[in-house]
Amino acid sequence: MARSVSLWFALSAILCSVTAISAEQSSETKDFVLTLDHSNFTDTVSKHKFVVVEFYAPWCGHCKNLAPEYEKAASILSKHDPPVILAKVDANEEANKYLANEYEVRGYPTLRILRNGGKNVQEYKGPREADGIVEYLKKQSGPASAELKSAEDASNLIDGKKIVVVGVFPKFSGEEFESYMALAEKLRSDYEFGHTLDAKHLPRGESSVTGPVVRLFKPFDELFVDFEDFNVEALEKFVAESSMPLVTLFNKDPSNHPFVIKFYNSPNAKAMLFANLSVEGIDSLTSKYREVAEQYKGQGIGFLLGDLEASQAAFQYFGVQESQVPLIIIQNNDGKKYLKPNLQANDIAPFVKDYKEGKVPPYLKSEPIPEENKEPVKVVVADTFEDMVFKSGKNGFCLSFMPLGVDIARNWPQSWMKLLFIMKKMIMF
Ligand SMILES: *[C@@H]1O[C@H](CO)[C@@H](O)[C@H](O)[C@H]1NC(C)=O
Ligand SMILES: *[C@@H]1O[C@H](CO)[C@@H](O)[C@H](O)[C@H]1NC(C)=O
Repeated sequence: MARSVSLWFALSAILCSVTAISAEQSSETKDFVLTLDHSNFTDTVSKHKFVVVEFYAPWCGHCKNLAPEYEKAASILSKHDPPVILAKVDANEEANKYLANEYEVRGYPTLRILRNGGKNVQEYKGPREADGIVEYLKKQSGPASAELKSAEDASNLIDGKKIVVVGVFPKFSGEEFESYMALAEKLRSDYEFGHTLDAKHLPRGESSVTGPVVRLFKPFDELFVDFEDFNVEALEKFVAESSMPLVTLFNKDPSNHPFVIKFYNSPNAKAMLFANLSVEGIDSLTSKYREVAEQYKGQGIGFLLGDLEASQAAFQYFGVQESQVPLIIIQNNDGKKYLKPNLQANDIAPFVKDYKEGKVPPYLKSEPIPEENKEPVKVVVADTFEDMVFKSGKNGFCLSFMPLGVDIARNWPQSWMKLLFIMKKMIMF
C-alpha cells in the first residue's frame, strides 16, 4: 500500500514536471510579449512610439488569467502596422518596484499605454480577452480623433450608447483645431472623438453649424451640448461635466454601468434613490427627483436612481429592506449616511434641503461586514471599479497590501473599500 502511494506520488511528480517542461517550452516558442525589468525598461520603451506594459505579480490569479490572452493579442498585433508592442514587468520583483511606483500601480494586473518613447502615459481601459485587446489597441494606436466624411461615418461613431465628442471646423488647421486634437489625445482612453468639416453629416445635423464648435453627444438628458471655448482646460472641464447624467440610472442594462462607475468615482456626496421602477405611477417620483437634481446641480451632490431589481446587494450593504422603498440614502465622503425610507415625491426636496443644512441625523445601523474582510490581510484579492469596466466576471484585479499596496490599505477609508466590494456585487449580478 505504502509502495503504491509513493509510486503514485512519483508518477504524479513526473507528470507535473513534464507539464512544467512543456509549458516552459511553449512559452519559449511564443514570446511575443516582451519581458522587461529595471535593467532594460527605459531603454526599450524609449525606442518605441507605442508600447503597452502590463505590471503583474506572479501570485496574482487575475494576471494568470490575462497572460494567455495578452500573449495571443501580442502575436496578432506583431503583424500590425505601425507595430504595437506588448510588454510585461514583474512588479513584485524588488528591483522593479520603483517602476511600479512611477506608473502608479495600485494592483495587478495594471496596464499602461506608453506613447512617444514613454513621454505620454495613459491608462489602459480596454477589455481583457485577446480579440478585445487587439481591437482596443488598434484604435488606441491610430489617430485620437477620426475624420467623419459622411453620415455613415458619423452614425458608426455616434451610436447613441456612449459619449462621443465631435469637433466641427471650417478647416482642419488653426489654433482651435490644434486645441481640439490635444484634447482628443489627452482624453482618448475615456471618450470617442471625431472631427468633421460638415455638420450635416451628424445626427440631427444642421448645415448652419460651421464651427469651430465642439459638440458632445450623450445617450441621456439633452442628447447633445455645444461648446465654443477652445482653451484645452476649459474643453476638458466641459467634457467632464457634460458627460455626467443629471441622474445616473442604475439598472440591469450594462450600457449604463460606465456611468454608474463614474458616479461612484466622483468626489461628490452621493444621493441614491431606490425604487421599483416598474411600478405604475413611479414617474411622479422620478420626475420630482430629477427636479431636485437639477436644483442642486454643481453643488457637490451626485444623484443616482436605482431600480429595485438590480439593487439587492446595495440593500444588503446599507442594511435596508425592500419593503422600505421608495428609499433615499445620501452618503457623504466621510462615509456618513442619511436615510429616509418609504418616501413620497414631495418628501425629496425637503429631505435633501435638511441634509444640506445638517438637520438630518446620520443613519447609524451597523453594516454587515463584507465577507471579503475576513480574508487574510497579506493578499486581499478584491475586484475594484476597474474590473467593472470589463463586462466579464473573470476580469478581476489583485490588490497587494504588501508592500506596494500598503498605502492603499492605510489611506483608503474603510467605507470606500466596502463600497468597492458592494459595487462589484451590484454590477456583476
Ligand atoms: C530585459 O532583461 C531581462 C533580464 O535581465 C531579460 O529576461 C529580458 O529578455 C530583457 N528584455 C529585453 C527586451 O531585452
Ligand atoms: C416591481 O413591480 C412590478 C409591478 O408591480 C412587479 O411585477 C415586480 O415584481 C416588482 N419588482 C420587485 C423586485 O419587487
